[in-house]
Amino acid sequence: MVHSSPKNIALLNALIISVIFGLAYSALFIIYDNIPVEPGILLTTFVFLLSYISINYSINKFIYARIKVIYKSIGMMTTSGKRENKHKGENRPSDVLDIVNQVVLEWGKEQQDEIENLKKGAKYRREFIGNLSHELKTPIFNIQGYISTLLEGGLEDDKINRKFLQKSEKSINRMIALVDDLEYISKLETGELKLKIEDFDLSRMVNEVYEFLEIKAAKNNTRLVLHPNSLRNINVKADKKRIRQVLINLVDNAIKYTDGENSRVTIVFYDFHDKYLIEVKDNGIGIQEASLLRVFERFYRTDSGRSRDEGGSGLGLAIVKHIIEAHQQTISVRSNEGEGTTFSFTLNKA
Ligand SMILES: Nc1ncnc2c1ncn2[C@@H]1O[C@H](COP(=O)(O)OP(=O)(O)O)[C@@H](O)[C@H]1O
Ligand SMILES: [Mg+2]
Repeated sequence: MVHSSPKNIALLNALIISVIFGLAYSALFIIYDNIPVEPGILLTTFVFLLSYISINYSINKFIYARIKVIYKSIGMMTTSGKRENKHKGENRPSDVLDIVNQVVLEWGKEQQDEIENLKKGAKYRREFIGNLSHELKTPIFNIQGYISTLLEGGLEDDKINRKFLQKSEKSINRMIALVDDLEYISKLETGELKLKIEDFDLSRMVNEVYEFLEIKAAKNNTRLVLHPNSLRNINVKADKKRIRQVLINLVDNAIKYTDGENSRVTIVFYDFHDKYLIEVKDNGIGIQEASLLRVFERFYRTDSGRSRDEGGSGLGLAIVKHIIEAHQQTISVRSNEGEGTTFSFTLNKA
């Protein structure tokens, strides 16, 4: 089959017209026998050429005029506009169809990608809202329960009134912590928080963090240890406040997901030429292999993590990962169920 380009259409039409013309001339030739043959051939050829050129020209002009509008409007609809430039100077009528074809294909692909992104975003938002309301439900229902009990006479009962108010306060604190984490993570994700890089001594910071979490650790009978090899100045270049947050979140988890006789959290520093590797190690309940890759996701908690339900938001490790990645460093986790968990991340030396 012949490819139906403007040229071929013009050729076919010119051919038909010139054949009709030729036949008409032949008819005249037969009727009047004093007509010469040569001008007929010349005229037919001329008619052929003329119709070919004019048809080809008009079709191209027509298509070009119409398609250019489509082409331009697609060009305007696309975000970049770089396509306009890419095809500039190629706007001869014969190229126009190919260009438009390509532009439409590219445009379609762009739209497809955009739809995929929107779908992903919508899914993420649905999940996020679901998770969030789930996290808020527990403390709100608890508070409701305590208050109802108090209103229904509990207030006069000295055995429970104080206790229930304290429990309510605990639930409220939990909601505050959740909202704080949410705010923190959303700032990190919108890139609103700029890192304030400075030099500081990490081993000193570990001691501060240990002090901060001392009471919690004592309640859980957990010993907080800085490995003897690491009792020296560890000068790093990082955002002090955020790295403190990282250490708090990791040590807090290590305490929370550890129990038993010899429960212990150990921090060790390893020297790698221009970096330090920091390990936060515990001998707690561990994380099953299937969950290892997911613990950094927002709101993700392992079954054992969830059943403990010690007021975590499930955002702690997501925040940790954000902070470490904002420093262009990496964090990883390894664990054996029932034996313990180790989180390790790197920081640049000062
Ligand atoms: N040191 C750890 N040992 C065992 N499991 C852990 C440890 N750290 C984190 N996890 C698991 O990863 C989950 C996510 O941690 P995180 O984001 O800090 O949330 P949260 O502490 O609020 O539960 C926890 O719920 C827990 O299941
Ligand atoms: Mg946590």
